[in-house]
Amino acid sequence: MHFRAAFVYLVPAVHCLDAVNYGAFTQTAAFSIANQLKIFERIGLNVTYLQIPNSTFAYPNLLNGGYDVLTGTIDNVVNLRFNQKASLTVLGQVDSGPDIVLAATPNITNVHQLRGKPLMVDSPTSGYAYILRKILSLYGLKLENGDYFFQAAGSTALRYKYLTTGSLPNGTTVYATILTYPFTQLAQGLLPGERPIILARASDFIEPLSSTAITVAESSLSNGPKRNIIKRFVAALYASGSYLAATENEDCAVQAIMKQLNVTREVAQLEYVAATSPISGESTNPESNLNVSKQGLWNVIDVRSQFGGFATIANGEGFDFVEATQPGVGNMIDYSLRDDVLRTYGMWMKDTMNIGIRLCDTF
Ligand SMILES: *[C@@H]1O[C@H](CO)[C@@H](O)[C@H](O)[C@H]1NC(C)=O
Ligand SMILES: *[C@@H]1O[C@H](CO)[C@@H](O)[C@H](O)[C@H]1NC(C)=O
Ligand SMILES: *[C@@H]1O[C@H](CO)[C@@H](O)[C@H](O)[C@H]1NC(C)=O
Ligand SMILES: *[C@@H]1O[C@H](CO)[C@@H](O)[C@H](O)[C@H]1NC(C)=O
Ligand SMILES: *[C@@H]1O[C@H](CO)[C@@H](O)[C@H](O)[C@H]1NC(C)=O
Ligand SMILES: *[C@@H]1O[C@H](CO)[C@@H](O)[C@H](O)[C@H]1NC(C)=O
Repeated sequence: MHFRAAFVYLVPAVHCLDAVNYGAFTQTAAFSIANQLKIFERIGLNVTYLQIPNSTFAYPNLLNGGYDVLTGTIDNVVNLRFNQKASLTVLGQVDSGPDIVLAATPNITNVHQLRGKPLMVDSPTSGYAYILRKILSLYGLKLENGDYFFQAAGSTALRYKYLTTGSLPNGTTVYATILTYPFTQLAQGLLPGERPIILARASDFIEPLSSTAITVAESSLSNGPKRNIIKRFVAALYASGSYLAATENEDCAVQAIMKQLNVTREVAQLEYVAATSPISGESTNPESNLNVSKQGLWNVIDVRSQFGGFATIANGEGFDFVEATQPGVGNMIDYSLRDDVLRTYGMWMKDTMNIGIRLCDTF
């Protein structure tokens, strides 16, 4: 018999990954897991994390295609959508106010010492500036009375850097700002004389709070290829958030956070506790299913209203916030992509959680 030689070529699997430009203020715990456990790659995505410098830059950049998807506090969307009719869409809630605190330089030990001081914010009309005003107003300090003033200093990553170095790049002394995950706990890794002082915790004043949200330009949802990429991105975050939420994965989640943030195990453990907090932790998992908390959203709207944050709609006078926040296609909140993800990738997400346990052994 004549045998024809069989040549077996060992061709490396060709992974054609689709590029995703992901704009974010911070690296959430679910993102750390997705990145470290290569969950984005498993769903065919090459995600580039683009650190957002400030919210004033971020949202126009999302609308003009500079980012495919962004995570940021839902207050920004409420502001831009209702005040400026910006076509931004929230696909789901990521967390309920991630470890948000008012933190100060080490020689400031109580809120009253902030009287007369400049306080760092991203932008005076966006993000966490209204939370800061709410907390300080309850201590009797009011921006409108000149009890303190604002310094626009950029996103939390920059403000953390300035807070821990004590000054802005131009040498101006800084005193306090809002910090969030992961910076609140990163600060705990610093030496006592350098460690920022936590003056107040947002969840003691506003609770529940709807905060970080997966946000896209509305137009990208009717663009087939782009929608498909965003769908897979959401599936990867959902799978990673589910992994984070399962207590049996604690050890691996801590390791993923440790590697992603380049922090000690002690700090990573604190981050894990913050990210899984039932009050202010992350919620990209079946427990909350990316649902935006209604009460959390009313609190966002109330706090903004209290300080004149709906100026271009006559401060909300006569504006139907209930109707404007109804989920639906073409509305501010649109769960149709989330529902699509659950239908298409439900099995994939379950499978990924199991694979994640094995992948963790490679750390
Ligand atoms: C992922 O994207 C980056 C930046 O565009 C590129 O340098 C890299 O080669 C890509 N990796 C893969 C596996 O496609
Ligand atoms: C804290 O330290 C800074 C810089 O050394 C100084 O300018 C500021 O006055 C101090 N604040 C208080 C409340 O002591
Ligand atoms: C926001 O970031 C952009 C891009 O880096 C920068 O040009 C701009 O000056 C920043 N604005 C503020 C208020 O920090
Ligand atoms: C330093 O930068 C801050 C924030 O951009 C600005 O408000 C302040 O006026 C600057 N100070 C000086 C002395 O240039
Ligand atoms: C991680 O942190 C250590 C200690 O702070 C530092 O020396 C190192 O350069 C960091 N590595 C990366 C990749 O940032
Ligand atoms: C999410 O909200 C929908 C209504 O929009 C509700 O039917 C569902 O039960 C909620 N899911 C969770 C897990 O809260």
